[in-house]
Amino acid sequence: MKKILLFISALVLTWLANAKTIELPGDTVLWRPSDLPGYTLALQKCSTCHSAHYAEYQPPNTSKGYWNAQVLRMKNIFKAPITDEEVPGLVDYLNATYGANRK
Ligand code: HEC
Repeated sequence: MKKILLFISALVLTWLANAKTIELPGDTVLWRPSDLPGYTLALQKCSTCHSAHYAEYQPPNTSKGYWNAQVLRMKNIFKAPITDEEVPGLVDYLNATYGANRK
């Protein structure tokens, strides 16, 4: 009986010693820096729910209308805390930074 207990505790100790820590990739894609005022807004308003990965993974040929639709979708459907006055600035920044005409 004692031997079995020893065997089991040895097994448990080995298992504990080998336990791996799993590192999940962080949701930390940063918004691309810009001098446009919309950059500060994006940092404040868009980062509350997700990082910039959604913006990064949009098609490279997007237009201003596309970004306008995205910002309105965030505002109206997901209730992002954006005022009507803030929409154009955000769209300018997104279009100039992630849209087809980006530098
Ligand atoms: C209140 C939470 C919230 C805020 C704030 C928010 N989003 Fe989102 N966003 C979401 C959710 C949820 C999704 C994923 C669901 C989806 O794509 O339909 C998403 C997805 C996206 C996508 C991908 C859409 C697609 O069709 O692939 C883009 C681009 C995006 N957000 C941009 C922004 C921008 C820019 C801002 C700031 C102006 C913003 N989001 C702020 C909740 C938010």
